[in-house]
Amino acid sequence: MSLIPFIVVLLFFVGIIEGSIDRRSIVARYNPVRNASSTTTPMQVGNGNFAFGADVTGLQTFQPFAIMSSWGWKNDSLPPGKTLADINNYRGTTWSNHGRPVTYDFGGNDPVVEQWLISNPNRVNLGRVGLMFRGDGGETLDVDEGDLNDIHQELDLWTGTLHSQFVWHNSSVAITTVAAQTSDAVSISIKSPLLASGKLGIFVDFPWNDGKAKFSAPFVGNWNATANHTTSLSTFPRGSSLKAQISHTMDASTFITSFGGNQFIMTRDSILAHRYSILPNAAQSSSFGLSIAFSPRKETSVPSPAKIQSTSSQVWSKYWSNGGFVDIVSGSTDSRAEELQRRIVLSRYLMRVNEAGDTPPQESGLVNDGWYGKFHMEMYFWHSAHWALWNDWDLLRRSSSVYSWFLPDSTRRAQVQQHFDAGARWPKMTDPSGRSAPGEINNLLIWQQVHPLVFAEYERRAFPAVQTLVKWEDVVRETADWMADFAWFNESTGVYDLGPPMFVVSEDTAPNATQNPAFELAYWRLGFDIASGWMRKLGKDVPSAWSTVQARLAPLPIDNETYAVYEGIESSFWTDPAFTNDHPSLVGLHGWLPKTSGVEVAIAKATADKVFTHWNISNCWGWDFPMLAMSAARNGETEMAVDWLLHPLFQFDDVGMPIGGVRVPTPYFPGSGSLLYAVAMMARGWDGSDGAAPGFPKGGWNVRAEGLSIAL
Ligand SMILES: *[C@@H]1O[C@H](CO)[C@@H](O)[C@H](O)[C@H]1NC(C)=O
Ligand SMILES: *[C@@H]1O[C@H](CO)[C@@H](O)[C@H](O)[C@H]1NC(C)=O
Ligand SMILES: *[C@@H]1O[C@H](CO)[C@@H](O)[C@H](O)[C@H]1NC(C)=O
Ligand SMILES: *[C@@H]1O[C@H](CO)[C@@H](O)[C@H](O)[C@H]1NC(C)=O
Ligand SMILES: *[C@@H]1O[C@H](CO)[C@@H](O)[C@H](O)[C@H]1NC(C)=O
Ligand SMILES: *[C@@H]1O[C@H](CO)[C@@H](O)[C@H](O)[C@H]1NC(C)=O
Ligand SMILES: *[C@@H]1O[C@H](CO)[C@@H](O)[C@H](O)[C@H]1NC(C)=O
Ligand SMILES: *[C@@H]1O[C@H](CO)[C@@H](O)[C@H](O)[C@H]1NC(C)=O
Ligand SMILES: *[C@@H]1O[C@H](CO)[C@@H](O)[C@H](O)[C@H]1NC(C)=O
Repeated sequence: MSLIPFIVVLLFFVGIIEGSIDRRSIVARYNPVRNASSTTTPMQVGNGNFAFGADVTGLQTFQPFAIMSSWGWKNDSLPPGKTLADINNYRGTTWSNHGRPVTYDFGGNDPVVEQWLISNPNRVNLGRVGLMFRGDGGETLDVDEGDLNDIHQELDLWTGTLHSQFVWHNSSVAITTVAAQTSDAVSISIKSPLLASGKLGIFVDFPWNDGKAKFSAPFVGNWNATANHTTSLSTFPRGSSLKAQISHTMDASTFITSFGGNQFIMTRDSILAHRYSILPNAAQSSSFGLSIAFSPRKETSVPSPAKIQSTSSQVWSKYWSNGGFVDIVSGSTDSRAEELQRRIVLSRYLMRVNEAGDTPPQESGLVNDGWYGKFHMEMYFWHSAHWALWNDWDLLRRSSSVYSWFLPDSTRRAQVQQHFDAGARWPKMTDPSGRSAPGEINNLLIWQQVHPLVFAEYERRAFPAVQTLVKWEDVVRETADWMADFAWFNESTGVYDLGPPMFVVSEDTAPNATQNPAFELAYWRLGFDIASGWMRKLGKDVPSAWSTVQARLAPLPIDNETYAVYEGIESSFWTDPAFTNDHPSLVGLHGWLPKTSGVEVAIAKATADKVFTHWNISNCWGWDFPMLAMSAARNGETEMAVDWLLHPLFQFDDVGMPIGGVRVPTPYFPGSGSLLYAVAMMARGWDGSDGAAPGFPKGGWNVRAEGLSIAL
């Protein structure tokens, strides 16, 4: 027997055990490939603040997938008869919180103004760019996808480059689509003999957007309300990098689309519509490069297609090379490793495209609109905490600064509007203004309050310098001040109660009956631990209100040897569909959350076991599954942890979009963010965990992790 194969095998295993991970080949293995457009999800290129959704042509030729941004918002005109004063003077109802009159943003006496405030501002689709097919006489032909042959599309994840090709009328067409990384632009390069004969051009179109629908998926905007908005075209002299500009006005908002690249002629198809045609000046040439920049301002230059492509390649390869990485596919024998690795790689790509902007992301990222395009501060943990564990600090810091700029308004909310004595109360459903969208759940939910402390703590662990302590000090202080003030001292029991009124994570209990929920009590304790530690590290006194409340916070409610959703809930809640159909946050007590004082691990484990058997798992969605996995992992049930991550109701499509499932449209990105958080925790470990990859089963799994941080 020859020794050669033996040595090769040996080297292979040594490589697996000791070498650094061949990141590029693992990433490339999952490049999405399509030969037809999906009618539900695009392939995307983007930069976190801007994303361009493409059909199989690499553009929006046949399917009007969206071009969206973190900055593209508009207000609808005011409802008939309403003035700006009506909007600004909106006040909701006042409920008593243990004698304190708290004015909320719901239940006001003007439902019309309230609905306007819920649906405004709303996030807009910035436009549509597609191929235009022309006949011998230059007439535009009505071509559909069925008229194309030999379609092949591949997204090169390593460089952020989308390659699309097909044959039309016996001529090949190849299109390369790339998003800029230092501005919100897209580069489109076309190679085809059809260009020289004038048979191929590009169209751009602009939709009307408004806040009529809470969800706009898979497409955003209305293409036939052409009379409700305006566009105008300006062109610039030869030689300028800026060749043309279209100004698009919807109500009081104007967005500017700027065009650069090779020479072309641009015309408006009809004064009654907002569709424009671009014809390359390409006589003799079989290639054409165009760059299109989107902005709320008039830009004076547009990056060249070549510049966009080279920067994309640099920024993406740096992202894949420098951040955390997990390789479970190279050495595992468990057949589930392949699919889990695919989800990890594609989620890393899609998070960088959709969820790395200057504001927290909406549930559907930059793919389509849900909740009018607004974002939810309680979901910010699931969208973005993974960046901390994967060490993508430049990306996380873009949006985690939101707490500093929301601080004044959140302090006003707590102290002026709601009459608390101290602190800042963070909003739930909001937009870049920080204003809380009206609604009972939006105003009564409390678990978003602790998140900034967790983000701060992760940043401190990664950068244990005094600057980090100082940077977050005000946010930490105001956050914990409100937590302490919200807890109410119950003279008869001698403990501090949370609520009523309040909504729990699962949003399915009666707010006026909800007191001392198990999850929120544990999270409050973790928050006080972090906040107190923060002050001590700064060499400052821990405010006595925090210590007093923390020491005497109500115990977690226990019913029949398991924790209960809240104190006083009927014992029958375990078999009552009213309480077992939504986010099973009881499993988060020890799993998602680290062991906190006041939580008995044995009871938390018994509680998780009971959730596994009693909850309506078929109604779970998104981040529920990674949360269930983290619970199983921390409790040593590693097989079950992997099962939860690959649960049949937790699906990712061919391009890695997390399926909304039974509850919401696709994509539902908290599913991707939580998957990456759970995988990092299972692969790298958590405070006090034992050994390598403590969340993965020992048999069948070879887990290698690089550049990850330990979870709390
Ligand atoms: C297109 O892709 C699908 C799914 O991968 C495959 O089943 C089908 O055969 C492909 N069609 C062509 C024409 O290549
Ligand atoms: C929408 O209107 C509100 C209320 O007047 C204002 O605070 C906000 O800045 C406006 N947003 C946009 C995008 O116009
Ligand atoms: C909750 O209690 C407040 C008073 O404390 C009351 O005004 C309000 O109507 C109650 N809400 C519900 C939904 O019962
Ligand atoms: C494509 O080529 C075939 C074979 O040469 C020819 O019969 C057909 O007419 C061509 N189609 C077009 C649209 O040019
Ligand atoms: C206009 O566009 C909207 C939104 O895309 C669509 O629902 C509606 O059917 C269209 N109406 C007509 C007359 O085409
Ligand atoms: C367009 O404007 C007209 C006139 O103001 C209005 O009746 C119509 O509802 C608007 N259409 C849309 C889709 O907003
Ligand atoms: C004090 O706590 C008890 C026991 O949880 C509860 O029944 C009671 O309602 C609380 N008191 C007030 C005034 O909320
Ligand atoms: C307590 O929990 C156990 C295990 O789930 C169950 O068998 C028993 O019926 C419960 N008892 C009560 C009083 O609910
Ligand atoms: C469990 O969830 C499924 C899926 O949403 C739903 O159809 C079913 O009615 C739920 N079961 C109960 C008991 O609520």
